[in-house]
Formats: sequence, structure tokens, C-alpha cells
Amino acid sequence: MPPAFRKRPRVAHARRLQHFRRHLLRWYATHQRPLPWRRTRDPYAILVSEIMLQQTQVDRVIPKYHEFLRKYPTTRALATANPREVRKTWYPLGYNIRPARLQEIAREAVTKYGGAIPNRHEDLMAMDGVGRYTAGAVLSFAFRKDAPILDTNVRRVLRRVFGVHGDPMRAPAQQRLWDLAAAVIPKGKGYVFNQALMDFGATLCTARKPACLVCPMQLVCTAYPDGRVDDHG
Ligand code: ADE
Repeated sequence: MPPAFRKRPRVAHARRLQHFRRHLLRWYATHQRPLPWRRTRDPYAILVSEIMLQQTQVDRVIPKYHEFLRKYPTTRALATANPREVRKTWYPLGYNIRPARLQEIAREAVTKYGGAIPNRHEDLMAMDGVGRYTAGAVLSFAFRKDAPILDTNVRRVLRRVFGVHGDPMRAPAQQRLWDLAAAVIPKGKGYVFNQALMDFGATLCTARKPACLVCPMQLVCTAYPDGRVDDHG
């Protein structure tokens, strides 16, 4: 019988969570992408990568990430740089507000935090251009905290596997997704788990043509086998 017609047993939430955690980490151990911002613990470098990745694909970000950090290796270097030069360096990633925002963040880091990127959620969120996702990314990727992240990829993965229905950009589904993004993190593993979530969403549980047939979540995914949750699927 084709998988679409096979009746599957209901899975309890706790079991789904446990399976998801264990198998995501196992999957990531062999499928992770070797991305340059995973080789640093410098919060500034990680913030640069996240601001770049907000609107640009990984492949295009990688060379620019290296160039930008060569030119502006610290918050101090960026804070005092010529804004026109910064914009020019950034330009291939698009003509937009991001380089100015990043420079403003660098200035704030210098004036308020002695050049450091703050490690508190409220302080990060108070910076222009840092939203809930970017704050979570910096807290988990740079400071190794169990902070949740929720971007397009993670949202799609969680909605499919856990069957979160409703418009994911509005309450109550949006809040349920943030709660879930926090609850799925195995204690003490925020860094590796969030990186794994990103890669899983970007390379396997993709928006179009997810690789359900080789997916380690088949047994527990509410959307298996066709990757759809509902009309927002
Ligand atoms: N997109 C946004 N942040 C990312 C990260 N840290 N790794 C891969 N893709 C990303």
C-alpha cells in the first residue's frame, strides 16, 4: 500500500518530542553543513552572520562574511568605520538598511557594553535590527544558552512534525511555535540543537519537495508523507 493510505498510529506528544530530539541530533551528526560561523564563538562575528543571513542565502553570505570581518574584525573597528565604505562592502548583499543597523549595533556595543555584544535577551532585543529570532540565535550560537529560535525554516519543521495549525505569523499559533521552539531544546544543547534545526529545515524538510522518504521523523511527523500541515503548509 502506498504510504499516503497507510493508517498510522497516533503518537503521544512526549514521545514525538523525544524522538524528534534524539533523531535530529543523530541526523545532524552526519549531515551538518560546514559553515564558517560555526567555527567561531565570537558573538560579534556570529551577529554579523545572522544579520547577513536575514535576507540572503547561505552561499552568497559566506564570501561576504569573510570579507566583512577582514575589514571590520571588531565592534570597535565597525563603529569607527566610514559608513559609506561599510555600505559599499555590503552592497552585493543588497542595497538596504542592514549595514547601517549593524554599524549602529557596533556603536551601541562600544558605548554601552565596552565593545562587547550583550548576552541578555532584553539588551539584545533593545537594539534596532535585532528581533526575537536574531536575539535567540546570538544567545544560543554565541553564548551557548538554551534560547529558542524561530525563522522560516524552523517554523516549517515544527509545524509539520508537531502539527501546529493556524496562521504561524499570528497569535495563538505564533506563540505556540515559540513555546515549542523552546520546549524541544534538550537541556544544555541549545547551540547544537538549533544549528541542527536550521540545517534540517534548509536541506531536508524543505518548503518544496521535502525529502520525506529519507526523513528520520517519518514515524512521528504529523505531516508525513507529503509535508503538508494545512493550507499554510
Ligand atoms: N540562517 C540563519 N542563520 C543560520 C545559521 N546559523 N546557519 C545556517 N543558516 C542560517
